[in-house]
Amino acid sequence: MLYFVLGIPLYKGFCNFSDSSFHALHCLTILVFSKTYILHGIASPSLYTYSKIDVSLPLLMLLSVFNEKKEAIIPHSKPTINEEDVVAVSNTLRSGNIAQREMVEKFEREIANYIGLKGGVATSSGSTALHLALLALDVTKKDAVAIPSYVCTAVLNAVNYIGASPVLIDIHPDTLNLDVEDLKRKLTRHVRAIIVPHAFGLPADIEEITGLGIPVVEDCAQSIGATYKNKKVGSFGNVSVFSFYATKVITTSEGGMVASNSNELLGKVRDLKDYDNKENYITRYNYKMTDIQASLGLSQLKRLNQFIEIRRSIAQRYTDELKDFCALPINHKSDSKHIYYRYIIKLRRDVEGFLKLSKEKGINCERPIFKPLHKYLNLSGFPNTDSVWKRAVSIPIYPTLTEENIKTIIEFVKSCKP
Ligand SMILES: Cc1ncc(COP(=O)(O)O)c(C=O)c1O
Repeated sequence: MLYFVLGIPLYKGFCNFSDSSFHALHCLTILVFSKTYILHGIASPSLYTYSKIDVSLPLLMLLSVFNEKKEAIIPHSKPTINEEDVVAVSNTLRSGNIAQREMVEKFEREIANYIGLKGGVATSSGSTALHLALLALDVTKKDAVAIPSYVCTAVLNAVNYIGASPVLIDIHPDTLNLDVEDLKRKLTRHVRAIIVPHAFGLPADIEEITGLGIPVVEDCAQSIGATYKNKKVGSFGNVSVFSFYATKVITTSEGGMVASNSNELLGKVRDLKDYDNKENYITRYNYKMTDIQASLGLSQLKRLNQFIEIRRSIAQRYTDELKDFCALPINHKSDSKHIYYRYIIKLRRDVEGFLKLSKEKGINCERPIFKPLHKYLNLSGFPNTDSVWKRAVSIPIYPTLTEENIKTIIEFVKSCKP
């Protein structure tokens, strides 16, 4: 009986069965082999091993393979974690230095070198990096900040953390980046900063925007490694921010960075992200990254160029196969290179129906942006954002997609007359 009770969570974890099917299987196995496996719990709660004394365990493993085949779904995004990453994080854990120390400093230096900037300050997320970047630019609640409407709410949150007013800008319907003409129309003397995301991995018209003479925060959360005129994005604005969330191009699980060529801006960010041991009092934050996170980031950074190459080659496959079926993203303008954080197709048919069908087929396609910001704020006058939102779908693209996954996705898109 003890084995039966202890076995339940392990059977479930092993096989990932639905409640009823795993229950039935469990009872069947118990009946057939009656209490013939032993569970040893060793000191650490995460380390369990089976002692195999008959064939019940191999049987279960076999069944779990069948089960996995039946229930396999292709996630929309997935981190690319390998054994080197595991070793890097374990080494940091074993060192005992698990808060912010040398690994964070090394990660800051290596990201800044990769982008071609003087320095970086690691943060707890892309959202906190955006908040600190606006604070470092001395944006206050009296100011306005221009941001696109077709972007995740993290960007609007950063403006609201300051108490500043967001000025929403429409996007260009082909690139899905900020529409510079709409930006120019909406600039007033109150606009103290522009946040420019390089949407889904494709560089925005960054030189035209920096040429407007207003401080620019380049948001590279989705675009690390993309280039504009052979220079990495993130090296054009006054300050740039990155996200290393689990599903980003490289990850630290949660994490972010502010990078810049300005020592003054970097100094402000470094001061504000940590509240402890300060001479004076101002409101500061605990927005720090840990060495555990940074060691994962350092390990991932070694493979960043490889990740981008794989993304580009999958994108090329999609483009070749789907170009006659639906509108595809602009691959790259002559002066900019996409990294395909997302591969976005534009449908002629309804998006909701397509998404439902994709999930039924075990492929998790998503809207690239859940809801445009102007819809949350009950604003109108964003025709390009509206039409893209009605038509755009993001199909899975990441380095661990298998050949079979890629074929399944292509066949699915073709089959549902997009
Ligand atoms: C363009 C953009 N900026 C900022 C963020 C916020 O990053 P984080 O989730 O690390 O807070 C995201 C997250 O997806 C993003 O896509």
